[in-house]
Amino acid sequence: MSTPHISAPDGAFAPSVLLPGDPLRARWIATELLSDASEVTEVRGILGYTGSWRGRRVSVMGTGMGVPSMNIYATELARHYGVTRLVRIGSCGAIDDRVGLRDLIVVSGASTDSSVNRRLVAGHDFAATPDFALTRALVERAETSPANASPEGGSTSITHVGRVFTSDTFYGQPASELDLLRASGHLAVEMEAAGLFGVAASEGVAAAALLTVSDHLNGDTHLSAQERQVGFSAMAEVALDAVTV
Ligand code: HPA
Repeated sequence: MSTPHISAPDGAFAPSVLLPGDPLRARWIATELLSDASEVTEVRGILGYTGSWRGRRVSVMGTGMGVPSMNIYATELARHYGVTRLVRIGSCGAIDDRVGLRDLIVVSGASTDSSVNRRLVAGHDFAATPDFALTRALVERAETSPANASPEGGSTSITHVGRVFTSDTFYGQPASELDLLRASGHLAVEMEAAGLFGVAASEGVAAAALLTVSDHLNGDTHLSAQERQVGFSAMAEVALDAVTV
């Protein structure tokens, strides 16, 4: 079967799919973490793989950046490939000072400047929230992950659960807008979660989002490429554990 943006046979995807923005991260998970992984789609360089994690079948596919790109891939996976659980794994820029570089954020809700979800509620505000069971599984796994902070030391990250802002733009967000977002309880800014939650609601599937903090917009600090890779790997393992219980 083929959809406009995915070319994979029927049944090629597992019911649970991890969704990094970067297709090369999807390939990295497939080659480094999954066993028996094979590539199932490569249209426009958006790579998708299915393999197994601790004996359970799971898929991983890139989404590209931004709400429209997420909307396309999440919709086609849910509508045409029988995918019932979609988990975004990605990076974000923190705006709350309690959140540090390398920390994990399990998203409990996503505000957005995208208008896409408004079509679901006749132009009103849509509550872009994740599936509760999937989110609880992510929180439980993140809190017991070896990467998570422990008071005895060796801490590499802390898990936060909270609201983020899904922005249509990466550049040019004025400091005054970040101040408003911080004051209204947003932990970080990213570019896809609200779009994923909207698709999940309209397609009747479960979705969740797990983010690592790659940069801090308050102090303009960021992780090195090497640190980002380590953080990404820890996050991917948390998400794989959560969707294969
Ligand atoms: N803005 C949007 N998305 C992001 C950012 C950011 O500053 N950092 C990482 N993902």
